[in-house]
Amino acid sequence: MTANTKSVLLTGATGYVGRLLLPRLLERGLEVRCLVRDPSKLSVPPSPLLEVAQGDVLDSQSLAKALQGIDTAYYLVHLMAGDGAFEDQDRQAAKNFAPAARETKLKRIIYLGGLGDESSPNLSAHLRSRHEVGAILRDSGVETIEFRAAMIVGAGSLSYQLLKSLTDRLPVMLCPRWLTTPTQPIAIDDVLRYLVAALDLPPSGSRVFEIGGPDVVAYMDLIREYARQKKLRRWLITVPLLTPHLSGLWLALVTPATYRVGRHLIEGLRNPMVVSSDEASKAFPIRPVGIQEAMRRAIAEDRQSGNAPSIK
Ligand SMILES: NC(=O)c1ccc[n+]([C@@H]2O[C@H](COP(=O)([O-])OP(=O)(O)OC[C@H]3O[C@@H](n4cnc5c(N)ncnc54)[C@H](OP(=O)(O)O)[C@@H]3O)[C@@H](O)[C@H]2O)c1
Repeated sequence: MTANTKSVLLTGATGYVGRLLLPRLLERGLEVRCLVRDPSKLSVPPSPLLEVAQGDVLDSQSLAKALQGIDTAYYLVHLMAGDGAFEDQDRQAAKNFAPAARETKLKRIIYLGGLGDESSPNLSAHLRSRHEVGAILRDSGVETIEFRAAMIVGAGSLSYQLLKSLTDRLPVMLCPRWLTTPTQPIAIDDVLRYLVAALDLPPSGSRVFEIGGPDVVAYMDLIREYARQKKLRRWLITVPLLTPHLSGLWLALVTPATYRVGRHLIEGLRNPMVVSSDEASKAFPIRPVGIQEAMRRAIAEDRQSGNAPSIK
């Protein structure tokens, strides 16, 4: 652990990534303060190192209080499940967080955003918003380590749950063209390793790290790999006419996932999400596992938890 970091603020502690990161931070002996909207959603054994701060990234006062005395903050929130326009809300949340971080003299922000080519005019609203949040956090002047990832493969990840629901239920799938878009998924364990390792990076200004597993695949390949490992016979037929909107509706019918969040994610799937820089492999001694192993772990973890969808 860096001598610089003793106390951590974890936002998004009730979310998929934050929930899994929390025990890893506590294992390292860090004092962790979780910023949560609803403390009853945080199911974690009590620890003398753990503190819960009730707050909301849309409430600046709660942020200033939660950041007091903190060395490093993890920014793992997105507001896609909310009622309003998520881009506006995510922008506002980051604009609240940035000055609070500066004023409380935070040393580092670690943010997990999304891959995607910023210069592409077709970048989805979701990915554009993820990049914008990173830029706002950097503009705070507080050193910001931004990781950009494509789909995270793990049992509780929304993307995995979508893929699982579709593949388990549909023997024949009419697949929209975007299922052939290249992507570079990463196993959840590897994401967590990067997030923890970012605590140890020597200070040298804000940086962006694109992270991904070694395999560049299409979403269809992920469906095929999941089906192969689950021993399911599936037929995938590409249909050019299914628009993202129609695909979203189709998803809403066959998956238990929150339709709103799922649709935003689906819109992002038309963008290639591939690592274009090797900065992460130079800065971290982490070599992520490939798709077969990531999927094997996710399926095993899913079976262990009784195949219960983590999302309703
Ligand atoms: N999962 C993936 O496949 C994936 C892939 C690439 C990048 N990422 C990035 O990783 C980060 C975390 O994603 P995730 O999958 O863990 O998300 P998630 O499961 O949807 O969790 C979102 C978190 O944000 C919190 N939140 C929402 N609105 C809030 C508010 N107003 N104030 C405070 N907290 C609020 C939620 O708290 P409540 O429980 O109160 O709602 C929840 O803890 C995001 O930046 C995402 O873009 C995820």
